[in-house]
Amino acid sequence: MDKVLDVQAEALQAIADAESLQALQDVRIQYLGRKGSIQALMSEMKSLPKEEKPAFGQKVNVCKQVVTEALEKRQAELNELALVSRMEEEKIDITLRGNDLHLGTTHPLIMIQQEIEDLFIGMGYKIAEGPEVEQDFYNFELANIPKDHPARDMQDTFYIDPNTLLRTHTTAMQMRELEKAKGKTPIKLICPGKVYRRDDDDATHSHQFMQCEGLVVGEHITLGDLKGTLEFMANKMFGEGRKIRFRPSYFPFTEPSVEVDVSCPFCNGKGCSVCKGSGWIEILGAGMVHPHVLEMNGFDSEKCSGFAFGIGLERVAMLKYGIDDIRNFYINDTRFLKMFDRFD
Ligand code: PHE
Repeated sequence: MDKVLDVQAEALQAIADAESLQALQDVRIQYLGRKGSIQALMSEMKSLPKEEKPAFGQKVNVCKQVVTEALEKRQAELNELALVSRMEEEKIDITLRGNDLHLGTTHPLIMIQQEIEDLFIGMGYKIAEGPEVEQDFYNFELANIPKDHPARDMQDTFYIDPNTLLRTHTTAMQMRELEKAKGKTPIKLICPGKVYRRDDDDATHSHQFMQCEGLVVGEHITLGDLKGTLEFMANKMFGEGRKIRFRPSYFPFTEPSVEVDVSCPFCNGKGCSVCKGSGWIEILGAGMVHPHVLEMNGFDSEKCSGFAFGIGLERVAMLKYGIDDIRNFYINDTRFLKMFDRFD
């Protein structure tokens, strides 16, 4: 009996002395393992007289339980100690200054695009998309500009092959949408995107720029609707109190066609250097969708009509932010782009 207590006392001492999880594991094997001291006690039971066996067996069981519990307790303690020392070692000073993160900024043209999109989504317009590498058919033919039509000269074109080109205007997307609608109205959409023309780059021209066109087709759509819509847009984009002026113009896909001026937001129409003293600034081209364009796309031009407009995003951004060279938008000078950081 004393032997059991001796083993127990010895085991408890070894557990208390174990300074690491590995040492504790060794103690566990030494006492509770298959060849351990406690198992050895169990084997000794065989040689005891019958009447002593139950009491001895019970004692060994108690010993085993006490040792197991002590092991578990010590293991929890050692785990805790390991965690504390690890936390001490890996301590982070969260008050230290971190490295500067160079976050990008939203490009000013994208800002204008988003502004226009928000505005028109608010009026129930859909946003259409289309390819930049376009077929001649959508860019020109369906827009009432057949081959050899002099209007093709208005837009000097990058051809990939005789039937494939880089779209010269977002009107190509309008034509795709008209074709897709298969004569069904109403249609109410805007199509923003990049367009390409063979221009020599200078302060006001670029061979690649951005446009956003709008298209509404339905019953009883009039030039008045176009004017109201554009006036609303001008007020939102350039500030309240803007007026709109239509000047007659020509586009093959609209009839009548107009060029649209907005009253100068810098001098309120009085005349300044930005509007060159006229009080007006030209911002877009527009018109009523040509009946032939409607017919070619499967619409009954007797029953429905529509308006369309196209605005250059660079021009809007240049006016709004007072930028005098269009090339600034494309050279990715971060000093320029940083000026538009909304989160600075
Ligand atoms: N597509 C014309 C352009 O690129 C703009 C426009 C669009 C004019 C829609 C009228 C109607 O110049």
